Amino acid sequence: MNIGIIGSGALGANFARILARNGLSAVISNSRGPASLQELVRELGPHIRAGTLEEAARADIVLAAIRWVDAERVLRGLPHWRGRVLIDATNPVEFIEPGSPDAQDPNNPLAAYGIKAVDLGGRPSSDIIRQCAPGAHVVKAFNHLDVNVLQQPEVAGGKRVLFYSGDDAAAKAQVRQLIESTGFFPVDLGSLEVGGHLASLPFGALSAHHFVKL
Ligand SMILES: NC(=O)c1ccc[n+]([C@@H]2O[C@H](COP(=O)([O-])OP(=O)(O)OC[C@H]3O[C@@H](n4cnc5c(N)ncnc54)[C@H](OP(=O)(O)O)[C@@H]3O)[C@@H](O)[C@H]2O)c1
Repeated sequence: MNIGIIGSGALGANFARILARNGLSAVISNSRGPASLQELVRELGPHIRAGTLEEAARADIVLAAIRWVDAERVLRGLPHWRGRVLIDATNPVEFIEPGSPDAQDPNNPLAAYGIKAVDLGGRPSSDIIRQCAPGAHVVKAFNHLDVNVLQQPEVAGGKRVLFYSGDDAAAKAQVRQLIESTGFFPVDLGSLEVGGHLASLPFGALSAHHFVKL
């Protein structure tokens, strides 16, 4: 399995760490280029290689670990996906400046966390990601838990549950296998329309909940 990672921040770097720990190879990228990733790849060992955005996006399975505000611009700049798998790990939230009017908005229940929800008019966020990545089989996964817990697939005598959803059975099977290979317990939430909503932060009913399969 050939894996690419777009984004080397909190999620991208920790996803790479999980892969490395399980002997899975990947190319990781960011906006600043491979030279900026040398320290990270040295730490992660021989399975993780630094590459350009374009190299990472050419892999068979690509994880988008970029902020919502960057997603459209980054994905629209890439060539046609030709049926490859794009794991949408994004969530439709924006970071707010401390001290800005948004930070004091009494109608924003997330202000204390420094974020606000992006209003998508009820559309599943992965629908928008899919529109920005023509030809990609989009699977929503690795988005619903804080990255820190992704370092602990086994917990309380069981396996931590990771949700995934999508509209292409073959793509979902590949992501399920990836989730299993990294030591988690995969749970299929169905289509993007249904599962995407359920597991999407900030308001998805199953987002940020920790389930453990005993
Ligand atoms: N943090 C979490 O706990 C968590 C958990 C689940 C899901 N998520 C979701 O994952 C996504 C990323 O979150 P994060 O916390 O990892 O954000 P982050 O730490 O800000 O990292 C964002 C990454 O995107 C990269 N990027 C921006 N433009 C790019 C471009 N043109 N080409 C390649 N890479 C580019 C940045 O590159 P540079 O490093 O060069 O700036 C950075 O490495 C968000 O949608 C978030 O909602 C986050």
